[in-house]
Amino acid sequence: MLIAAVPDGPIDVPPIVGEYADGDTPVPVWRNTRGGLTFRLGDGELARFIKWMPGGDPIFEAEVARVSWAAPFIEVPRVLASGSGDDGSWMLTAGLPGHSAVDVRFTSDETAARVAARGIGAGLRRMHDALPVDRCPYSWSVSQRIARARTEGLAVAESLQTPPSIDRLVVCHGDACAPNTLLADDGAVVGHVDLGSLGVADRWADLAVATWSLEWNYAGGEFLESDLLEAYGVARDDERIEYYRALWAAT
Ligand SMILES: Nc1ncnc2c1ncn2[C@@H]1O[C@H](COP(=O)(O)OP(=O)(O)OP(=O)(O)O)[C@@H](O)[C@H]1O
Ligand SMILES: [Mg+2]
Repeated sequence: MLIAAVPDGPIDVPPIVGEYADGDTPVPVWRNTRGGLTFRLGDGELARFIKWMPGGDPIFEAEVARVSWAAPFIEVPRVLASGSGDDGSWMLTAGLPGHSAVDVRFTSDETAARVAARGIGAGLRRMHDALPVDRCPYSWSVSQRIARARTEGLAVAESLQTPPSIDRLVVCHGDACAPNTLLADDGAVVGHVDLGSLGVADRWADLAVATWSLEWNYAGGEFLESDLLEAYGVARDDERIEYYRALWAAT
């Protein structure tokens, strides 16, 4: 099974990535579970990031639209170009000046991991507070997620059709796993990436996944959960966490 991670072996650079490199050497920074790659082009203030997915479907359309919608309210990458063709699909963005919360500087020891967990919690809170639910055209509702999963051939248990009552409706990130929060060296929140599923939902849809991802992104990371929830400013909700983790796994 392919796991999402910083690639550590040799990587074939897709031709479209080379076309946008403009003299810079593409540096692979991420490989997702679907065979997609992200490369950094250039450094510092001139850094750009290009996400690439195999296949010709214009799969970044949803992400481009959501990033553009969120940009007036929170710190997200500016989209410079996107497209699709025989060579796959891609989205080029301007670099944000932060490091993924799973950068080695945050995973190397317990103190650093706690800083990251608090940054993820604070970042999610800031996002949920800043994005206006009543102006958001995107939904990430339970019924839509289940319907979509079923069209993709996934067997979603009937029991998941009945979610817990809504605690607080917010505009959720939609993939609040740790690597999608960018942090400064001191753990301050710089911004968010990977907004292709952003939409209105109960805040526990994000919180369940953000806390869960600590377990696979930091060695023995369960102990970090309380740091994240405290920085977000909420007490653990066992029932909603259990439900939204099960929904995440099923969809
Ligand atoms: N504009 C940007 N500025 C800074 N870093 C970026 C930017 N875009 C992407 N990154 C980095 O690249 C990584 C991968 O990007 P992203 O999460 O969008 O890809 P993905 O393949 O959709 O990830 P996932 O495995 O979560 O599906 C991010 O975690 C982040 O470290
Ligand atoms: Mg990501």
